[in-house]
Amino acid sequence: MPRKILVTSALPYANGSIHLGHLVEYIQTDIWVRFQKMQGHTCHYVCADDTHGTPIMLRAEKEGITPEALIARVWQEHKSDFDAFHIEFDNYGSTNSEDTREFAQSIYRKLKSEKLIEIRSIEQFYDPVKQMFLPDRFIKGECPKCHAKDQYGDNCEVCGATYAPTELINAYSAVSGAPPERRNSDHHFFRLSDPRCQEFLREWTRSDTLQPEASNKMQEWLGGSGENKLTDWDISRDAPYFGFEIPDAPGKYFYVWLDAPVGYMGSFQQLCKDAGLDFDEYWQQGSNTELYHFIGKDILYFHALFWPAMLQHAGYRTPTRLFAHGFLTVNGEKMSKSRGTFITAKSYEEHVKCTEYLRYYYAAKLNGSMEDLDLSLDDFVAKVNSDLIGKYINIASRSAGFISKRFGGMLARREQVGTQGMALIEAFIAAREAIAQSYEARDFSRALREIMRLADLANEYVNDKAPWVLAKQEGQEASLQEVCSVSLNLFRLLTLYLKPILPKLAEQVESFLNIGLLSWADAEYPLFAHVIKEYKHLMTRLDPKLIDAMVAANKESLQPAAESRQRHAAHQQHTAAKDAAQAEKDFEPFISIDDFTKVDLRVAKIVNAEHVEGADKLIRLTLDIGEEKTRNVFAGIKSAYAPEELIGRLTVMVANLAPRKMKFGLSEGMVLAASGDAPGLYILSPDHGAQPGMRIK
Ligand code: MSP
Ligand code: ZN
Repeated sequence: MPRKILVTSALPYANGSIHLGHLVEYIQTDIWVRFQKMQGHTCHYVCADDTHGTPIMLRAEKEGITPEALIARVWQEHKSDFDAFHIEFDNYGSTNSEDTREFAQSIYRKLKSEKLIEIRSIEQFYDPVKQMFLPDRFIKGECPKCHAKDQYGDNCEVCGATYAPTELINAYSAVSGAPPERRNSDHHFFRLSDPRCQEFLREWTRSDTLQPEASNKMQEWLGGSGENKLTDWDISRDAPYFGFEIPDAPGKYFYVWLDAPVGYMGSFQQLCKDAGLDFDEYWQQGSNTELYHFIGKDILYFHALFWPAMLQHAGYRTPTRLFAHGFLTVNGEKMSKSRGTFITAKSYEEHVKCTEYLRYYYAAKLNGSMEDLDLSLDDFVAKVNSDLIGKYINIASRSAGFISKRFGGMLARREQVGTQGMALIEAFIAAREAIAQSYEARDFSRALREIMRLADLANEYVNDKAPWVLAKQEGQEASLQEVCSVSLNLFRLLTLYLKPILPKLAEQVESFLNIGLLSWADAEYPLFAHVIKEYKHLMTRLDPKLIDAMVAANKESLQPAAESRQRHAAHQQHTAAKDAAQAEKDFEPFISIDDFTKVDLRVAKIVNAEHVEGADKLIRLTLDIGEEKTRNVFAGIKSAYAPEELIGRLTVMVANLAPRKMKFGLSEGMVLAASGDAPGLYILSPDHGAQPGMRIK
C-alpha cells in the first residue's frame, strides 16, 4: 500500500549561513525522503527559512537594509547551498509569507477561544536609548561569580556560571551600550500548564512518537504523574519586532518560535497550491497520512511540547513521530572558528566541490539515534577513498570498458551467465529488504555496512575472474562478456541501493547503463542482452589537500581583521588601529574568496581585432561580453598573434578594471594571457559551450 507522507526539516534561521552542522539534518532528511520516493510512496518534503525575531531585525538595521531585503538575500544563499548538496525540497518557503501568517493567526484565535491564552504583565529589561525591550542575549555585563567583563545575560563564557540577567554587575545593552531599565509590559502566554495540555502531552508521549532518549527527556519535563511541571509559554514580543502582529493586539508580535513551526504548514500550503494537493488531507485531525519532523536535539522542547499542544488544541492533527538527531563535532570537538572547523556549506562547495562525499560520510555515521556525530577529517578522506571509490566505483571502471570495446556495449544474455554469477546476482537482489528496513529506520550506517559487504563480494568475484586476464586469452570471449556483465549487474544493484545517498552519481550511472530512473522495485530485474553506453569517469578520489585548504580558508575568513577591530573598538580604539595597521603589513599567504570575487572575469568574444597605428606591441580588440555595448581593449599581444586569427575566438577578460586612457584611446578592461620565462604569450580560451558574458568564478 503506497503511503502518504509529509516530511519536514527544521527551518534554518535567516541570519546565518548554512554550515556542516546544519547539513547533518538536511542530508539525513533528504536521504530518507528519497528512499521513500524510490519505494513508490507519496512523500512531500518541505522546509523554509525561519525569518523573524530580534537578531534578524538588528542585523538588517546594521547592514542598512530592510529585514525583507535581508531575508530575501539569505533565502537565495540557503537555497543555493541546499541545491549544491542535492537537498531536494518539494517546496522551500519562508515563514514571512501570507500563508504562514494566516495559519499563525487562526491557530492563535482558536487557542484563545479555547481559553488557552492569557495576558499578564511582566517586568523586562528595556533599552531607553534604542527604545526596545531586550532579549537576554542582548544584555551584557560583569559576571556575578568570576567578575569577567562583557558576559551575556544568561551565562558566563569564562567560568560557565548561569544566572538571570538581573544578577549581572553593571549591566548594559549590547545594542546601544546604555544601562537597561526595567519596565512592565503586557505579554500573551500560551497556557501550557493547563491540565488539558498536560494530559494530552502525557498521552502523546506514551504512543510511539519519540525515540527512547527523547521520551526520557519528556518524562523529565512533564514530571511524575500527579506532578505538573509545565509552565506557561510567553508567545508575544513588543514592537519594534520583525514578525507577525497578534490579532487585536496592536504593537504586540508573535515570538519567532510561535510562527516557526507554523512555517511547516505555510510551506506545505504553497506546495498544495502549486501541485494541486489537498492541504486538509494532511493536516486535519484524524488524518491517515503520516507527518514527520526531523530536528536537532536542541529544539526538541519546542517540537515535543509546544508544537503538538498547539496543534491539538487548535484542531489539527499532531505529528506521527519526531526524528531527533545529535550534534556535529569536527575532529572530536565542537565546531570552532579558531580551529577552522566551523565550515560553511559554501566553503565546502568551493574547496571540495563534490558534495556527495559528505552525503556518503554522514550516511555512514547516522544511525537514527540522538547521539552526536563526529566528522573526523582524516577518516572522511580515508572512507571516501577506500569505500566509495575503492570498493564501489572501481567495480564499474574495471568491467565497463571491455563491454564497450569488445562487445559493442552488449551485455550477456541470461543463458550465458553461469550458476556462480547468477547466485551472486540473486544474493544482491535478496539483500533489498534488509537494506530497505535499515533506511526506513534511519539507520543509514547499517544500510551502508550491508551495501559495502556486497561490494566486497563483487570485488572478490571480479578479482577472482580477472577479466583483464581473460581479455588477453584466446577463446575466452564468452567468459569475458559473462564476467563483465555479472559485475555490471552487481554494480547496478549497488547503485540502486546507494541512490538515496548518492542521487547525482546514480543519475550518471543510469545514463551510462542506458536505463530509466532506478526505483526500489527494479532491484528484482537484472539487465541482460541490453546495450549500455560508453563508460565515463564517475568520481575521483578525494585529495586531502582540498580539506587542508578548506580548513585554512575557514580559519582565515572567519576571523577577519574587521571583526577583531570592532571588538576592540569600544575600549581600545588606539591599540586596535595599530593592530589593524600591523595586520595589513603582515604577509598574507591566502586571499579570501571575497578578494577573489572582486575581480569580474568574463568570457569575451573577440568580434574584431586590428593593428594600432604607431604602437608596436598593441592590438585593438573589440570584445562582446553580453552587454549592450562592446568593449574596446588594447592588448599587448602583437608579438604572438596576428589580428585576423583572433577574430571570432572566445577569451577571458577582466571586466571591472578601471578604464584607462591611453594615447590611442580608452581601454575598457584587460584580456588575460599566460607567459613564462621563455618567449611566448598565450591568451586563454574557455571550454566548448561557454557564452560571451558568462562569469568566471
Ligand atoms: N530556526 C530554528 C528551527 C525552527 S523549526 C520550526 C533553528 N534554526 S537553526 O538554524 O539554528 O538550526 C536548524 C537545524 O539545524 C536544527 O534542527 C538544529 O538542531 C540543526 N543544527 C544546527 N547546528 C547543528 C549542528 N552543529 N549539528 C547538528 N545539527 C545542527 O533551530
Ligand atoms: Zn564568570
